[in-house]
Amino acid sequence: MTAGSVRHLYVHLPFCAHRCGYCDFVTAVGRRDQHDAYVDALLRELALEQSVLSPRLETVFLGGGTPTFTEPAALARLLRTLPEAEELTVEANPETVTAGLAHLLRSAGVNRVSLGAQSFRPHLLRVLEREATPEDVRRAVHLLRDAGFDNISLDLVYGIPGQSPADLDSDLADAVALEPEHLSCYELEARPGTRFTHTHGAELERQADALEGYFEHVVQALTASGYRWYETANFCLGPTRAEGRDLRARHNLGYWLGRDYLGLGIGAVSTLDGVRHRNGPSLGAYLTALRSGQPPARELETLDRETRARERLLLGLRLDEPLEVRGVREVVDAAAAERLAERGLVAFSADDREPTLTLTRRGRFLGGGVTAELLADG
Ligand SMILES: C[S@@+](CC[C@H](N)C(=O)[O-])C[C@H]1O[C@@H](n2cnc3c(N)ncnc32)[C@H](O)[C@@H]1O
Ligand code: SF4
Repeated sequence: MTAGSVRHLYVHLPFCAHRCGYCDFVTAVGRRDQHDAYVDALLRELALEQSVLSPRLETVFLGGGTPTFTEPAALARLLRTLPEAEELTVEANPETVTAGLAHLLRSAGVNRVSLGAQSFRPHLLRVLEREATPEDVRRAVHLLRDAGFDNISLDLVYGIPGQSPADLDSDLADAVALEPEHLSCYELEARPGTRFTHTHGAELERQADALEGYFEHVVQALTASGYRWYETANFCLGPTRAEGRDLRARHNLGYWLGRDYLGLGIGAVSTLDGVRHRNGPSLGAYLTALRSGQPPARELETLDRETRARERLLLGLRLDEPLEVRGVREVVDAAAAERLAERGLVAFSADDREPTLTLTRRGRFLGGGVTAELLADG
């Protein structure tokens, strides 16, 4: 039964100053005159869905878009009205961070900021059509520190057209020098048919073979700097540097552990009691529906037991902690699991009361390939 038990809330703030060429998220450029109305709509949607939420939330995550591009008064009103949570994260673009914004976030109870750095090389930021300079990223981190933030995450991407191994090295070194508590390093995904892929397609193809090596390099550099590689693309300060804190992203951990979550806003996804809800992407339709007190248009997908088990395996094996075999047994190809174990790519616990499964370090580098082999055909 879901009522009153969901402990993770995602809120989508779609507005951005401009659209970066590689971005495939639900965004809306500018629209300053609609920010207030959008926050009204979000709060109405929250009121409609409130009953599924636990009275004590573990995490709230404001993602985008560029949440920090939202008109400050509207953003402050939203933050004031959302339910409290143990972890309250806001995604920020470096060029939007001022002393005033950092103070606004801090005084509204935000205790974690995820900053989209992407790269520290000016020529690569230009390829990505980013507005921030490397100096903006550094300044943003310092302003957030000055405002009292002790949990900052930096996003980096690798596989940017024209990025050399030396560029990647320098990006990792520049990121680590800022001593973030957390880092997300994503391989750049370029969707076929987009303007970005059209412009950079040849270079993306040329680089494709090098990306596995880039991934290994990211892991080696960050683990050597004291970060724990706790999820395929995510790193947090490890035991020797974390001073007893668990700095994994608790909100995303909820997704990876297969927990239920509620998503509000355009394009937002919720998973509630085995049903996935996907809000439509249209800003106009969203505002109109909620203005008249109706829930937004959404697609519903019922996740049967097998689909849930497949997702659980795919997401659970991204983590560095053992996954209980119970719950995923029906989707694991036992013969493939044995073959993979012999090749040193997966490991089974022998002595735990509840049998578990983990990818070895080598298995984690191969990631998706190993999980695909492990999954029984369905
Ligand atoms: C949806 S964005 C929102 C954050 C913020 N607006 C920004 O641009 O920094 C969250 C993160 O997703 C990652 N991301 C966005 N588009 C991507 C792509 N095409 N491939 C890989 N990562 C991407 C970036 O690292 C980005 O920081
Ligand atoms: S600022 Fe972030 S969300 Fe907005 S278009 Fe650029 S990458 Fe996408």
